[in-house]
Amino acid sequence: PSIAAIVPAAGSGQRMASKIPKQYLQLAGKTVLEHSLHALTQDSRISKIYLALSAEDTFFSALQLQLPIPVIPVVGGASRAASVLAGVEQARLDGVAYVVVHDAARPCLQADELSKVIDVALTHPQGALLALPVADTMKRSDAQNAVRHSVKREHLWHALTPQVFALQPLLNALVSLGVDHPELTDEASAIELSGGKPQLVAGRRTNIKVTQPGDEQLADMYLKFFAT
Ligand code: C5P
Repeated sequence: PSIAAIVPAAGSGQRMASKIPKQYLQLAGKTVLEHSLHALTQDSRISKIYLALSAEDTFFSALQLQLPIPVIPVVGGASRAASVLAGVEQARLDGVAYVVVHDAARPCLQADELSKVIDVALTHPQGALLALPVADTMKRSDAQNAVRHSVKREHLWHALTPQVFALQPLLNALVSLGVDHPELTDEASAIELSGGKPQLVAGRRTNIKVTQPGDEQLADMYLKFFAT
């Protein structure tokens, strides 16, 4: 089947409190985005990458990408789901059958976890996502941070990316729910809210999302470690 990656990179990175959006921070000699794109080229089944950028993006055109597959820019939207939808719609016009959605802000994705989640998605009708079993004791609090109760961590996972789905059911789910749906924080949730049960595939702890100050140092360390 024709498999393409979709990379939402249209976020402004407000949580990082930096002038440069997080996907353009430099780590180990390249931007976070370049590392994330490069990671996706490690599985040869991915034939191209749709990259959702903000209409105001002034950073991407300055990059000198060196990738073995085409990167097709599309204009992203006001939400992550809107940005993903823009990529999925273009991919559908190009006859793509499966999409591998990966955060621009996850530069440390490794080849083995990428291949594993694609393998599972191709045999599982409702798709698959990388995820990490929760290791800490979990608490739910009230608005003042007082513990209300502990949450059983059994069968509890952190959802990561890539998340891999057949294109048409994902497109249908995003369109029918609407990209401003408050519970649409990843693509699996679109499938779930439409009644599907995507399969969780254990990923690596190193596949972090560069979100908060300090994350970029950790990602930088992982990337340098992988390169040795
Ligand atoms: O904000 P968050 O960390 O959930 O962003 C996850 C990914 O979605 C990032 O790669 C970000 O650039 C992307 N995004 C987007 N369009 C938006 C908001 C976020 O492509 N409007």
